[in-house]
Amino acid sequence: MTGSRGFLGTNAAVYLSGRARLVGQARTTEDSRLYERIIGLDLRDAEGVGALVREVNPDVVLHAAAISGHETSANDPEQAFAVNVVATKSIAEACADIGARMVHISTDAVFDGSTGGYSEVDEPQPFSYYGETKLGGEQAVRDTVEDHLIVRTNFFGWSETGRKSVLEFFVNSLREGRNVRGYPDFVVTSLYVPALLQAIWDLGEIGAVGTVHVASSDALSKYDFGMRIAEQFGLDPGLIARQGPDADAHTASRSRDLSLDTSRVAAILGAPMQTQGQGIAQAYHDEPRIAGTIRDR
Ligand SMILES: NC(=O)c1ccc[n+]([C@@H]2O[C@H](COP(=O)([O-])OP(=O)(O)OC[C@H]3O[C@@H](n4cnc5c(N)ncnc54)[C@H](OP(=O)(O)O)[C@@H]3O)[C@@H](O)[C@H]2O)c1
Repeated sequence: MTGSRGFLGTNAAVYLSGRARLVGQARTTEDSRLYERIIGLDLRDAEGVGALVREVNPDVVLHAAAISGHETSANDPEQAFAVNVVATKSIAEACADIGARMVHISTDAVFDGSTGGYSEVDEPQPFSYYGETKLGGEQAVRDTVEDHLIVRTNFFGWSETGRKSVLEFFVNSLREGRNVRGYPDFVVTSLYVPALLQAIWDLGEIGAVGTVHVASSDALSKYDFGMRIAEQFGLDPGLIARQGPDADAHTASRSRDLSLDTSRVAAILGAPMQTQGQGIAQAYHDEPRIAGTIRDR
């Protein structure tokens, strides 16, 4: 698992605990309660990547490391390219060398958000440099390692910092009585992260290959998402203001419909994906158990 100390990496360790032997990669070697071990490596070191993959010799590499934000990628495009494209290519080459399967986490931001409801056959057209680099990473995987699964997604959940996810943004803000904006024009199919991990596991069991959109089965605006959180967590919905597009709407990815069509994954798995409401309800029940484990990693 790359990016093992990140949001998805820590959640994946909780999910996979007891199901698989887990070796993590992070920028620095660290002790972990969740991983068998975490090996420190900057993924921009291509030789180091090859040596690490050969040493660990995994059956599957779940590649979750990335420069994962629109702003961070725009502020340091060189680093975003080096990590999201070049390092992804190195990992793909290493997987191909040892015959490991590569599961690559990609994003709905490979699309421009002008129409929404994107299926796997729709032409990607990123609106940000982050999206461009993630698309470049996808292509590197496709070109390099035959046994690959590219998972385009968007997810929410409990994170290792307690501040990373949109779920935590609304829960924390409303619990503190802070007024927040909820964007009615920014629409996504965000999936509760344990449901994402379950789907990735199930796709692995089946041996699915190629590109799959793994997201919630319903599209919601950030405003509606916030209102569902308020309702589920018993918090004040009056603190959420409907806020339309503003001056930074273009770069900040608001005023877009990035929803993904999940028909393909539903057909492969034989069941529809979870809705965002179902995920929020599960997150509410999971909070005492999962949030603590993840923050205490
Ligand atoms: N969060 C979302 O809603 C979302 C939506 C769609 C797709 N994704 C994709 O899902 C994946 C996981 O996202 P996330 O939210 O878990 O991201 P995250 O919390 O930012 O974690 C990414 C990890 O990558 C590591 N990393 C970055 N550059 C590295 C380098 N040069 N060498 C080694 N490690 C490096 C980071 O380590 P440091 O902490 O040391 O920097 C971090 O732990 C990413 O591919 C992202 O693009 C996320």
